[in-house]
Amino acid sequence: MLDLIIMRSVHVLAIVIWIGGVCMVTTVLLPTVRHHFPACERVKIFHKIESRFATQARFVTLLAGISGFYMVWKMDIWNRFQHIEFWWMHAMFFIWLVFTTMLFILEPFVLDKKIENESQQNPDKVYTRLQCLHWVLLVISLITIIGAVMGSHGYTLF
Ligand code: HEM
Repeated sequence: MLDLIIMRSVHVLAIVIWIGGVCMVTTVLLPTVRHHFPACERVKIFHKIESRFATQARFVTLLAGISGFYMVWKMDIWNRFQHIEFWWMHAMFFIWLVFTTMLFILEPFVLDKKIENESQQNPDKVYTRLQCLHWVLLVISLITIIGAVMGSHGYTLF
Protein backbone atom coordinates (compact mmCIF):
# COMPACT_ATOMS: atom_id res chain seq x y z
CA MET A 1 0.00 0.00 0.00
CA LEU A 2 2.77 2.42 1.00
CA ASP A 3 4.60 1.59 -2.24
CA LEU A 4 1.53 2.67 -4.24
CA ILE A 5 1.28 5.94 -2.32
CA ILE A 6 4.97 6.64 -2.92
CA MET A 7 4.70 5.77 -6.62
CA ARG A 8 1.61 7.98 -7.01
CA SER A 9 3.50 10.88 -5.40
CA VAL A 10 6.50 10.30 -7.68
CA HIS A 11 4.14 10.13 -10.67
CA VAL A 12 2.41 13.42 -9.83
CA LEU A 13 5.72 15.16 -9.04
CA ALA A 14 7.20 14.03 -12.36
CA ILE A 15 4.10 15.27 -14.23
CA VAL A 16 4.23 18.64 -12.45
CA ILE A 17 7.88 19.23 -13.43
CA TRP A 18 7.43 17.84 -16.94
CA ILE A 19 4.15 19.44 -18.08
CA GLY A 20 4.89 22.59 -16.04
CA GLY A 21 8.08 22.92 -18.07
CA VAL A 22 6.21 22.35 -21.34
CA CYS A 23 3.77 25.08 -20.29
CA MET A 24 6.61 27.52 -19.52
CA VAL A 25 8.36 26.79 -22.81
CA THR A 26 5.11 27.19 -24.79
CA THR A 27 3.62 30.26 -23.13
CA VAL A 28 6.75 32.16 -22.06
CA LEU A 29 9.97 31.09 -23.77
CA LEU A 30 8.79 30.60 -27.37
CA PRO A 31 6.83 33.89 -27.63
CA THR A 32 9.60 35.87 -25.87
CA VAL A 33 12.26 34.61 -28.27
CA ARG A 34 9.90 35.41 -31.21
CA HIS A 35 9.43 39.00 -30.05
CA HIS A 36 13.04 39.82 -29.24
CA PHE A 37 15.11 38.07 -31.90
CA PRO A 38 15.19 38.14 -35.72
CA ALA A 39 13.76 35.07 -37.51
CA CYS A 40 17.18 33.71 -38.51
CA GLU A 41 18.39 33.55 -34.86
CA ARG A 42 15.23 32.30 -33.14
CA VAL A 43 15.60 28.52 -33.56
CA LYS A 44 19.24 28.56 -32.42
CA ILE A 45 18.56 30.66 -29.32
CA PHE A 46 15.43 28.69 -28.43
CA HIS A 47 17.34 25.45 -28.82
CA LYS A 48 20.19 26.61 -26.55
CA ILE A 49 17.83 27.48 -23.70
CA GLU A 50 15.47 24.55 -24.21
CA SER A 51 18.24 21.93 -24.27
CA ARG A 52 18.70 22.31 -20.49
CA PHE A 53 15.02 21.58 -19.97
CA ALA A 54 15.20 18.64 -22.41
CA THR A 55 17.63 16.88 -20.03
CA GLN A 56 15.24 17.41 -17.10
CA ALA A 57 12.31 16.33 -19.28
CA ARG A 58 14.06 13.06 -20.22
CA PHE A 59 14.57 12.22 -16.56
CA VAL A 60 11.02 13.04 -15.41
CA THR A 61 9.45 11.31 -18.43
CA LEU A 62 11.31 8.19 -17.38
CA LEU A 63 10.11 8.58 -13.77
CA ALA A 64 6.50 9.15 -14.89
CA GLY A 65 6.63 6.00 -17.05
CA ILE A 66 8.20 3.80 -14.36
CA SER A 67 5.82 5.00 -11.63
CA GLY A 68 2.81 4.78 -13.98
CA PHE A 69 3.52 1.24 -15.13
CA TYR A 70 4.31 0.21 -11.55
CA MET A 71 0.84 1.37 -10.47
CA VAL A 72 -0.83 -0.41 -13.41
CA TRP A 73 1.04 -3.61 -12.52
CA LYS A 74 0.50 -3.39 -8.77
CA MET A 75 -3.21 -2.54 -9.04
CA ASP A 76 -3.55 -5.04 -11.89
CA ILE A 77 -5.61 -2.66 -13.99
CA TRP A 78 -4.36 -3.61 -17.48
CA ASN A 79 -7.99 -4.31 -18.50
CA ARG A 80 -8.74 -0.56 -18.26
CA PHE A 81 -7.03 -0.23 -21.65
CA GLN A 82 -9.94 -2.22 -23.13
CA HIS A 83 -12.64 0.22 -22.01
CA ILE A 84 -13.37 3.62 -23.54
CA GLU A 85 -14.53 5.09 -20.18
CA PHE A 86 -10.88 4.88 -19.17
CA TRP A 87 -9.92 7.12 -22.13
CA TRP A 88 -7.63 9.03 -19.77
CA MET A 89 -5.46 5.92 -19.31
CA HIS A 90 -5.03 5.75 -23.10
CA ALA A 91 -4.36 9.49 -23.16
CA MET A 92 -1.65 9.21 -20.46
CA PHE A 93 0.07 6.41 -22.34
CA PHE A 94 -0.25 8.27 -25.66
CA ILE A 95 1.28 11.51 -24.29
CA TRP A 96 4.08 9.56 -22.63
CA LEU A 97 4.81 7.67 -25.87
CA VAL A 98 4.87 10.86 -27.97
CA PHE A 99 7.25 12.68 -25.58
CA THR A 100 9.47 9.62 -25.06
CA THR A 101 9.84 9.13 -28.82
CA MET A 102 10.55 12.83 -29.33
CA LEU A 103 13.00 13.26 -26.45
CA PHE A 104 14.92 10.01 -26.78
CA ILE A 105 14.83 9.26 -30.53
CA LEU A 106 13.51 11.99 -32.83
CA GLU A 107 15.08 15.09 -31.24
CA PRO A 108 18.67 13.83 -30.85
CA PHE A 109 18.85 11.71 -34.01
CA VAL A 110 16.49 13.28 -36.56
CA LEU A 111 14.80 16.56 -35.65
CA ASP A 112 17.80 18.65 -34.56
CA LYS A 113 19.52 18.26 -37.96
CA LYS A 114 16.27 18.59 -39.92
CA ILE A 115 15.23 21.76 -38.10
CA GLU A 116 18.68 23.31 -38.51
CA ASN A 117 18.67 22.65 -42.27
CA GLU A 118 15.10 23.81 -42.82
CA SER A 119 15.53 26.92 -40.69
CA GLN A 120 18.31 28.13 -42.97
CA GLN A 121 15.79 28.24 -45.84
CA ASN A 122 12.61 29.32 -44.11
CA PRO A 123 13.24 30.25 -40.45
CA ASP A 124 9.88 31.87 -39.82
CA LYS A 125 7.91 28.84 -41.03
CA VAL A 126 10.03 26.46 -38.93
CA TYR A 127 9.59 28.58 -35.80
CA THR A 128 5.82 28.85 -36.29
CA ARG A 129 5.61 25.08 -36.72
CA LEU A 130 7.61 24.64 -33.50
CA GLN A 131 5.18 26.89 -31.64
CA CYS A 132 2.11 25.08 -33.02
CA LEU A 133 3.53 21.68 -32.06
CA HIS A 134 4.15 22.88 -28.50
CA TRP A 135 0.61 24.27 -28.21
CA VAL A 136 -0.95 21.02 -29.45
CA LEU A 137 1.10 18.91 -27.01
CA LEU A 138 0.38 21.28 -24.12
CA VAL A 139 -3.38 21.32 -24.69
CA ILE A 140 -3.59 17.52 -25.01
CA SER A 141 -1.47 17.14 -21.85
CA LEU A 142 -3.67 19.51 -19.84
CA ILE A 143 -6.85 17.72 -20.93
CA THR A 144 -5.20 14.42 -19.96
CA ILE A 145 -4.27 15.74 -16.50
CA ILE A 146 -7.86 16.86 -15.84
CA GLY A 147 -9.20 13.51 -17.12
CA ALA A 148 -6.65 11.52 -15.05
CA VAL A 149 -7.34 13.32 -11.77
CA MET A 150 -11.12 13.04 -12.25
CA GLY A 151 -10.89 9.45 -13.49
CA SER A 152 -8.63 8.16 -10.73
CA HIS A 153 -11.00 9.69 -8.17
CA GLY A 154 -14.03 7.97 -9.68
CA TYR A 155 -15.45 10.53 -12.11
CA THR A 156 -15.74 9.79 -15.80
CA LEU A 157 -17.22 11.58 -18.80
CA PHE A 158 -19.08 8.49 -20.01
C1 HEM B 1 3.32 5.29 -19.37
C2 HEM B 1 2.54 6.30 -19.11
C3 HEM B 1 1.64 6.37 -17.90
C4 HEM B 1 1.08 5.39 -17.17
C5 HEM B 1 1.25 3.88 -17.34
C6 HEM B 1 0.26 6.02 -16.15
C7 HEM B 1 -0.47 5.33 -15.18
C8 HEM B 1 -1.20 5.93 -14.17
C9 HEM B 1 -1.95 5.24 -13.15
C10 HEM B 1 -2.05 3.72 -13.04
C11 HEM B 1 -2.54 6.15 -12.36
C12 HEM B 1 -3.44 5.86 -11.13
C13 HEM B 1 -4.85 5.64 -11.61
C14 HEM B 1 -5.82 5.35 -10.48
O1 HEM B 1 -5.52 5.59 -9.32
O2 HEM B 1 -6.93 4.88 -10.78
C15 HEM B 1 -2.16 7.45 -12.85
C16 HEM B 1 -2.57 8.65 -12.31
C17 HEM B 1 -2.33 9.88 -12.87
N1 HEM B 1 -1.56 10.14 -13.98
FE1 HEM B 1 -0.59 8.76 -15.13
N2 HEM B 1 0.35 7.37 -16.29
C18 HEM B 1 1.17 7.63 -17.35
C19 HEM B 1 1.49 8.88 -17.86
C20 HEM B 1 0.91 10.05 -17.45
C21 HEM B 1 1.02 11.33 -18.11
C22 HEM B 1 1.81 11.56 -19.39
C23 HEM B 1 0.29 12.24 -17.41
C24 HEM B 1 0.07 13.70 -17.67
C25 HEM B 1 -0.05 14.25 -18.85
C26 HEM B 1 -0.26 11.54 -16.26
C27 HEM B 1 -1.02 12.14 -15.28
C28 HEM B 1 -1.59 11.48 -14.23
C29 HEM B 1 -2.38 12.13 -13.20
C30 HEM B 1 -2.63 13.63 -13.09
C31 HEM B 1 -2.85 11.13 -12.36
C32 HEM B 1 -3.81 11.31 -11.17
C33 HEM B 1 -3.10 11.31 -9.85
C34 HEM B 1 -4.10 11.42 -8.72
O3 HEM B 1 -4.99 12.29 -8.77
O4 HEM B 1 -3.99 10.67 -7.78
N3 HEM B 1 0.13 10.21 -16.33
N4 HEM B 1 -1.36 7.29 -13.97
